[in-house]
Amino acid sequence: MSNDPRQILVTSALPYANGSIHLGHLVEYIQTDIWVRYQRMQGHEAIYVCADDAHGTPIMLRAQQEGITPEALIERTGHEHRADFADFQIAFDNYHSTHSPENRALAETIYHRLNEAGHIHRRTIKQAYDPIKEMFLPDRFIKGECPRCGAADQYGDSCEVCGATYAPTELKNAVSAISGATPIEKESEHYFFALGDFEAMLRKWTRGEHTQSEIANKLDEWFETGLQDWDISRDAPYFGFEIPDAPGKYFYVWLDAPIGYMASFKHYCDTHPWLDFDAWWGKDSKHELYHFIGKDIAYFHTLFWPAMLHGSDFRTPTAVFCHGFLTVNGQKMSKSRGTFITARAYLQHLNPAYLRYYYAAKLGNGIEDIDLNLEDFLQRVNSDLVGKVVNIASRCAGFINKKYDGRLSDTVADPGLFDTFAAAREPIAALFENREYSHAVREIMALADQANQYIDAHKPWVLAKQAGKEQEVQDVCSVGLNLFRVLVTYLKPILPMLAEESEQFLNIEPLRWEDAATALTAHTINTFKPLMTRVEKDHIDAMVEASRENLQPAPDTGAPAATACNIEPVAEMIEFDDFARVDLRIARIVKAEHVKGADKLLQLTLDIGTETRNVFAGIKSAYAPEDLEGKLTVMVVNLQPRKMRFGVSEGMVLAAGPGGKDLWILHPDDGAEPGMRIK
Ligand code: 2FM
Ligand code: ZN
Repeated sequence: MSNDPRQILVTSALPYANGSIHLGHLVEYIQTDIWVRYQRMQGHEAIYVCADDAHGTPIMLRAQQEGITPEALIERTGHEHRADFADFQIAFDNYHSTHSPENRALAETIYHRLNEAGHIHRRTIKQAYDPIKEMFLPDRFIKGECPRCGAADQYGDSCEVCGATYAPTELKNAVSAISGATPIEKESEHYFFALGDFEAMLRKWTRGEHTQSEIANKLDEWFETGLQDWDISRDAPYFGFEIPDAPGKYFYVWLDAPIGYMASFKHYCDTHPWLDFDAWWGKDSKHELYHFIGKDIAYFHTLFWPAMLHGSDFRTPTAVFCHGFLTVNGQKMSKSRGTFITARAYLQHLNPAYLRYYYAAKLGNGIEDIDLNLEDFLQRVNSDLVGKVVNIASRCAGFINKKYDGRLSDTVADPGLFDTFAAAREPIAALFENREYSHAVREIMALADQANQYIDAHKPWVLAKQAGKEQEVQDVCSVGLNLFRVLVTYLKPILPMLAEESEQFLNIEPLRWEDAATALTAHTINTFKPLMTRVEKDHIDAMVEASRENLQPAPDTGAPAATACNIEPVAEMIEFDDFARVDLRIARIVKAEHVKGADKLLQLTLDIGTETRNVFAGIKSAYAPEDLEGKLTVMVVNLQPRKMRFGVSEGMVLAAGPGGKDLWILHPDDGAEPGMRIK
């Protein structure tokens, strides 16, 4: 590897501006940040930019729900995201927003260039439209029954139960998740990017080692399927940039999102005038450009994005690095289990360094998922960082501070051992360069073991009590502190705060990678202060408890309050405690009425012994109101009231059956009384 300084621009995926950063997101930001910090320690110019992904329907709707403008929402989220990243020591050079003048200008430039080169086509298509909200519905905002397995409450693009993918028009009994209305089909003209025009270029790019082999294989499958035109426009109402000369048409959020990488860099150039934007993004750029992303968005970054850049005369990425997803305790993050943990919830209980270290200890350069096992997390951090690394300094520093006025020996008493540590800098550097962090951590911890063995063998605490051993004590502790300094150098990309505090304690300039080659001799250190405390189980438990949410109904979707429990594959397993929190009671149906404007709902007045409740139930296909009055049913009485288009539903009745006419909600009148608890 040549030692010439490199110019490297690095990005992480842009988080959406309508949600909090959570531990799943942090896998990527920590992975990227470690790589950037490593490059900087090597003396390279590594610029790390990111931004909030601020456009799209979910952001527009979220703002409406909160009664604020999308601008106010993205402003608020931007502050929250910046604070979270700063507290996890994610060292962005610039954090911007896709809703920025730079991004608008660049999106327009790219669009104009693609259009002039004939890569934009217009075509009229039919799409689902919400007649109440008067807007086209993205697939995720249509819900209904899966056309394959019949599972209720599935999104318009895929079934979370059986994994089927389909068009929203195939959903059975589809409703708009925004208003509850039945969607209609409506035509409108859309703008398409002709991805197929770039097939030859993309095939070449893919074979050029620009991404991992697993992704390159996936790309081959996509080529086999054929590259489809990509719909890049959305109709008003939409929060985004209006397409030039196309009133009421907006760029789809995914069109301007990756352009946000460029825009953030452009914004950075404005305050760093020595940077030449074209030298970094022009088509002949010699600089390096890397995107770190999750494997789920590879299609956008390895097909659309290089094609858009190439087609508009910009450079293409040097590489796109994909990573896998995060599981917690072996399962998908879950709000009911308390494992859907936001960055802020974590920070309120635990030191960010622990997570940075744990993720590094787990991350390779492939796309496998990684697991945050909270028990293993505690063991590993305590044993490696506190028990091995920091322990070296605390075992040696006291003697040097107290007995030698902070002065290290004039020579290294065990040059062989020090050389072993120094020589590791090249193989460990190669591991960081290749994003093989877990391997790097294993190597570093093997060195930490050697350092501890050295101290154990020489026992400075015994020598210190023996007359005439003063020099030996100083020498052993000086070797120990030098080994510690090398370990901190190697850990610095992962643990910047530990490195900074160690630099302060060792009284040295910020460590660079090459500093591992030379020892500190005849040097005075500062007083040692504890560098890291142990992870406490109580703190982990408190974090999980604070993150645990009771099962909540989805926000007001207008969908039926009680939907048919079709026979369907078993969904995600829940804990017994989750089930035990559901309070089921016998209820008498005092009144049952039709609901004006609702095809599927009946309004029920239910007597639960202590009070009456109003419930909207999606059972009209199976029962006439008069069949129900006076009968018993089973209801969930401790469900949060849910605001629907027709009123507030104060619970849910249980139904069984495949749906339609075959749907049973009645409880046999066998002596049961309203209010009786079902166990
Ligand atoms: O998947 C997401 O969270 C997107 N907001 C990522 C965008 S990355 C880039 F293309 F902007
Ligand atoms: Zn299904």
